Amino acid sequence: MDLIESMMTQKSIRRYSDQPVTDDEIRQCLRAAIQAPNGGNRQPWQWVVVTDVEKKHQIGDIYRRSWARYWPAIQASATTTTQPSIEEVEQGRRTAASAMHLAEHMGEAPALVMLMGEASYKTHQLRDEAGEVDIGHTYYTSLIPAVQNFMLAARGLGIGTCLTTMFRIFQDEVRVVCDIPTEYEIEALIPMGRPRGKFGVAPRRPAAEVTSWNTFGNYLDANESGAS
Ligand SMILES: Cc1cc2nc3c(=O)[nH]c(=O)nc-3n(C[C@H](O)[C@H](O)[C@H](O)COP(=O)(O)O)c2cc1C
Repeated sequence: MDLIESMMTQKSIRRYSDQPVTDDEIRQCLRAAIQAPNGGNRQPWQWVVVTDVEKKHQIGDIYRRSWARYWPAIQASATTTTQPSIEEVEQGRRTAASAMHLAEHMGEAPALVMLMGEASYKTHQLRDEAGEVDIGHTYYTSLIPAVQNFMLAARGLGIGTCLTTMFRIFQDEVRVVCDIPTEYEIEALIPMGRPRGKFGVAPRRPAAEVTSWNTFGNYLDANESGAS
């Protein structure tokens, strides 16, 4: 499938059909994932693929309990001062319904894939005699391209995914299910499955509204009618 079309339609998919995802397809996504750029080619990751039915259900149960803590907490923290548009309210409602569905059915997804990062790398700091040499958050910025490569490769194969992190509320329970040592932080839990609905273009503010040219605030394209 065309790369740009894959990228434009790689939205979160949280409802899966009964069709299987094969081990070979998962391997193909992982091969694409590990080709991602990463700091100094350190490749600070480990991946765990969970297809065992019992383990998936255990993780699904943990995820359901994570949602039960996350959902009230996120609502209590809402600080919106501006009135959302009708479209935004509707979009928020759809996302919440979809997220709730995943919370109830995570353990039934054909496969769950977890991305882990080296815990020691998380606090890694570069220093010289003048002090800290700040080159960014290399732990996170090394994992982000890999996780996106993984999900894009899945999209290319017609497989839906959703990047999730709320399981982190009970990360140590997830560790126990798959014997994951504390040397690794579990950063992402990605359910995979063929979509029950359709892939599509997710709503976003136009690139033109968030892109300055040469000087911050010079939203050149946003001034042109019809630009996006
Ligand atoms: C860092 C991060 C954490 C996320 N965690 C969750 C999660 O725990 N559960 C979930 O259902 N979706 C999660 N998402 C998916 C977002 O809700 C989703 O990307 C966003 O609503 C935009 O929708 P789209 O991906 O369909 O375009 C996460 C996304 C990111 C980038």
